[in-house]
Amino acid sequence: MKIGILTGGGDCPGLNPVIRAVVRQAINNGDNVVGIRYGWKGLLNKEVEELTLQKISGILPRGGTILGTSRTNPYKDENGPSNIEKNFKELGLDALVAIGGEDTLGVANKLYKERKLNVVGVPKTIDNDLSATDFTFGFDTAVNIVTECLDRLHTTAESHNRIMVVEVMGRHAGWIATYGGMAGGADYILVPEIPIDIEEVIESIRKRHKRGKNFSIIVVAEGATFKDDTYYVQEKELDEFGHIKLGGIGNALGEILKNKLKYDVRVTVLGHIQRGGSPTAFDRVLGTRFGVKAYDLIKKSKFGCMCALSGNKIIEVPLDEAVKELKTVDMEIYNISKLFFG
Ligand code: F6P
Repeated sequence: MKIGILTGGGDCPGLNPVIRAVVRQAINNGDNVVGIRYGWKGLLNKEVEELTLQKISGILPRGGTILGTSRTNPYKDENGPSNIEKNFKELGLDALVAIGGEDTLGVANKLYKERKLNVVGVPKTIDNDLSATDFTFGFDTAVNIVTECLDRLHTTAESHNRIMVVEVMGRHAGWIATYGGMAGGADYILVPEIPIDIEEVIESIRKRHKRGKNFSIIVVAEGATFKDDTYYVQEKELDEFGHIKLGGIGNALGEILKNKLKYDVRVTVLGHIQRGGSPTAFDRVLGTRFGVKAYDLIKKSKFGCMCALSGNKIIEVPLDEAVKELKTVDMEIYNISKLFFG
């Protein structure tokens, strides 16, 4: 078999372990794998390279993706899907592994359903907002980075009696904010799922200061909004999937807190630091298990399926299920983090 593999959307620690696992399994079983460069863009331009054992050697601990990635949406152009189908055939691909989040997997699902292409999906996103899987790889790494940053911010916040506002990633869902905030002992966590009630935040900080704590750490997800629902955006320009570039809520919140509380406030935007660097052991193992399962799905002709984590088992789910809605934060977990606010 000739298997293609691509990584689409934002990069994420754990992509290389998936690629490595697919290639190792394929070669061990007498199949070939070609890497498609820069997501769907590489399939539109036929930019591919053979993935040998030598090419994937040493990539397990490496962040990012050796294939490169992009937010190219083939459905943006009316000839895009037919060009993908044509190139798929011309390249002699028997199957394709698409590794990505809601956008990349949404395209994979359409290509499977509308063009009958042999596609299987692997879920990735640091945001952990994909349905049908308990966790995506990349999330654990991002949470560990946020946790370490909060530990560091604690010591400086305490030394200066400051309020530290920390903006973390999380476009539609507050998973990183909730887990990172809980692990790093945040004094308030603001997520996209719950509009910000500024009076409640202020009240909570006041209460905390009254009990003798002269510093506070407030974690806010980039996609959180105030009650009027306005998103804070860095750029109004939309990407090919219609997403705006978020960012700015941390500074907006910091400004309000400074004015209302008269404490010294500093804002830290963690940004892409959360996406860079080496994957944690958990993400390496999850990526490896997903890669092995993706190869297995191909061998069993389970196209239109995605591998997923359910409890501690790797299962298969229809791509349809994975992309039908975003997985927002489990309120049971968020409510536990709330017990430690203030
Ligand atoms: O989807 C993952 C994510 O990290 C979001 O949390 C964030 O909004 C977005 O990617 C930023 O992506 P980029 O700056 O690479 O376009």
